[in-house]
Amino acid sequence: MMTPVFRHQDGRRGTIGTVTLDDTPFIRACRRLPVPHTPVWFMRQAGRSLPEYRRVRADIPMLEACARPDLIVEITLQPVRRYSVDAAIFFSDIMVPLKAVGVELDIQPGVGPVVGQPIRDIEGVKRLRGLEPTDVGFVTEAVRTLVGELGEIPLIGFAGAPFTLASYLVEGGPSKNHERTKALMYGRPDLWHELMDRLTDITIAFLKVQADAGASALQLFDSWVGSVAPDDYRRSVLPYSRRVLEAVGELDVPRIHFGVGTGELLGLMGEAGADVVGVDWRVPLDEAVRRVDPGKALQGNLDPAVLFAPWETVRERARDVVWRGRTAEGHVFNLGHGVLPDTDPDVLARLTDFVHEESGRL
Ligand code: CP3
Repeated sequence: MMTPVFRHQDGRRGTIGTVTLDDTPFIRACRRLPVPHTPVWFMRQAGRSLPEYRRVRADIPMLEACARPDLIVEITLQPVRRYSVDAAIFFSDIMVPLKAVGVELDIQPGVGPVVGQPIRDIEGVKRLRGLEPTDVGFVTEAVRTLVGELGEIPLIGFAGAPFTLASYLVEGGPSKNHERTKALMYGRPDLWHELMDRLTDITIAFLKVQADAGASALQLFDSWVGSVAPDDYRRSVLPYSRRVLEAVGELDVPRIHFGVGTGELLGLMGEAGADVVGVDWRVPLDEAVRRVDPGKALQGNLDPAVLFAPWETVRERARDVVWRGRTAEGHVFNLGHGVLPDTDPDVLARLTDFVHEESGRL
């Protein structure tokens, strides 16, 4: 790809000459302003479904790739070269800040994050120190370079939300039932609070690093919080996610808040304070509008598995998402969760163009 030539005058907000990224469809939709077309990006657009990604990553472990600015930049740009997406997502992982504060962990192919010493007592919690910007200098460097390379395409920074991070730390790896995490949450509120409080600080620091270096929006991934009942969410999760979202509110970049299986939590997630609530594919967007208080944009929510059906089906399902999305005050088109590894990149390319066309002539 040609590198766009421009002068970067305001790193933090990404001003290009007289053009500001605030005018892009993605940022405008997040702020519930009128847009020429529904903006599109895909969770996990940078990653395993791209052959060029697999080539770059061939001999390099995931966490090593996440610490190398040259690879971060290259992998973040790969989907932007292929698709006419309206935003790029920073290539990293929710576990990167934990690794940076000294948690012994690995991200294993086909498995996910695996933690050497799971945290289940106060000694473990107390070992979790705060994140300093210098712990993740490679993130600052990569974001700065990307903001230059991306020109008028906004860069989304992200972090894991305290609950989802806690789940990996307490379980020691991926978990179906999150039983140890919930046992701690139900039965050891003192320990839970101390753990969540520390994770909240780490998450805030990691998001700030990205916004300070020039990211135009921030997404908080609470991927596994859908396993929690609403009362427990309100009591044991919401206060921490709210603290994260409030703390980054002062950075003046849109905040997106996403989880999977969160149909029963959408209202409460809205209360946590993001500008945009992410919706998985289980709740139609017009129903999500009813569940979330006014004053929010929505993001979502095509079932990632739909992309394996014939194109006519993909098109009809995508059209349905676009139309239902029109009932929201602002809509960012996305999948209901990440791109699945075997997805055909050509379908994503076609889908992006289709959503632009369909929404542009509504
Ligand atoms: O394109 C993007 O979205 C940007 C990159 C990104 C990755 N992880 C890269 C990655 C983002 C935003 C994440 C966030 C992340 N990581 C989440 C929240 C999003 C979600 O999917 O719900 C979670 C829960 C994790 C933890 C994690 N890391 C998992 C569950 C896995 C997958 C394990 C597997 O291989 O099935 C990872 C590894 C990971 N993170 C990969 C990528 C590209 C695959 C690593 C590889 O290529 O070997």
